[in-house]
Amino acid sequence: MNSTLTPTPVIPSNDQASFLMPTYARQPIAFVRGQGTYLYTQDGTAYLDALTGIAVCGLGHCHPAVTAAMIEQTSTLVHTSNLFQIPWQEEAGRLLCQVGGMERCFFANSGAEANEAAIKLARMSAYKKGITTPKIIVMEKSFHGRTLATLSATGNEKVQKGFYPLVEGFLRVPFGDVAAIETLAKAHDDIVAILVEPIQGEGGVNTAPQGFVYLEQLRALCDQHDWLLMLDEIQTGNGRTGKYFAYQHTAIKPDVLTTAKGLGNGFPVGACLVRDKASDLFGAGNHGSTFGGTPLACRTVYAVIDSIQKEQAIENAAKVGGYLKDLLNQEFAGLGITVRGFGMMLGIELPRACSELVARARDEQHLIINVTADNVIRLLPPLNLSQADADEIVERLVVLVKDFLAK
Ligand SMILES: Cc1ncc(COP(=O)(O)O)c(C=O)c1O
Repeated sequence: MNSTLTPTPVIPSNDQASFLMPTYARQPIAFVRGQGTYLYTQDGTAYLDALTGIAVCGLGHCHPAVTAAMIEQTSTLVHTSNLFQIPWQEEAGRLLCQVGGMERCFFANSGAEANEAAIKLARMSAYKKGITTPKIIVMEKSFHGRTLATLSATGNEKVQKGFYPLVEGFLRVPFGDVAAIETLAKAHDDIVAILVEPIQGEGGVNTAPQGFVYLEQLRALCDQHDWLLMLDEIQTGNGRTGKYFAYQHTAIKPDVLTTAKGLGNGFPVGACLVRDKASDLFGAGNHGSTFGGTPLACRTVYAVIDSIQKEQAIENAAKVGGYLKDLLNQEFAGLGITVRGFGMMLGIELPRACSELVARARDEQHLIINVTADNVIRLLPPLNLSQADADEIVERLVVLVKDFLAK
């Protein structure tokens, strides 16, 4: 299944210099092929993928309809420029707004870029109100990206360390704490927006103590103070939690919403969506991107959303994700373990730090997982996971976790 045009490059061995900046502590394994829920190494060994490239390949690896659309578009037209009309951008924007309950969208190339657009929208709303020192409320333990503005918004000092001075204008409160926001509202008259993840992904798959009611409380505060409610659905979006966007578990709508990851099923694309009072904040010249929304990116987005709909992948994420969560709860009962999350975004909090389980799952069980916030196993399997593969994930994980906790 390797390309006949270009041989797969060989990974440098440990004693050879790599030409890549060491920004990642990479695992000592390379995958050369992926299909559905499985990844394969050069020698053909299969690995069950409960991570999907960190919530990216929601339809599984190399989904046939998405691959076909990409191949056709690649051989037709890859890039023109946003100086011209791009029919596939219009189509993908229409479909994304339709499934996402929003009105307009800007296509970017990543999650961080989508959040940059949101932060700029908040600043533009301040400018239009005559506020010169705008503040955005953000959360402890949040993650919004690695650009300067988004790492400044992120609630994790490890991400910020070394990059001072941070971009100013962010006020931080504990996730789920509405009273803390009310206190801020009394002390500042230049707050313009709240930026929040419906479920904190990198922070440990954290749901607010009051559940999704939190988003309704934030909506009420934003309405009361004329702030923008900006949801970062980069990880929770595109069906991950069992709704197209996680906010759709509630009765409210945000003013601004950002997404990426699952939007391209592996193709790098992000989007910032707006509605109502945020719809007309940007005009010509206020924002842009050379690559944002190419015919190739948008044809891919269209194929992804279309496939998610046609294959009822979100319904499956809710059903099989619920089954997976129940099974994990049963298996881990009495071990001091908490299982949380929705759909195919699950966190398993262990009583102690467990980063070593990533390597053990990979090498002993051929299972790909992630550990975040030191002691939370994060499962982000494809939305279209079969019940048999859910059973398989649990079987492989349970052996490992029980052995780990017994020592
Ligand atoms: C909630 C959230 N926001 C933003 C980002 C940044 O996205 P990207 O890595 O595509 O820039 C991530 C990535 O993990 C994320 O989980």
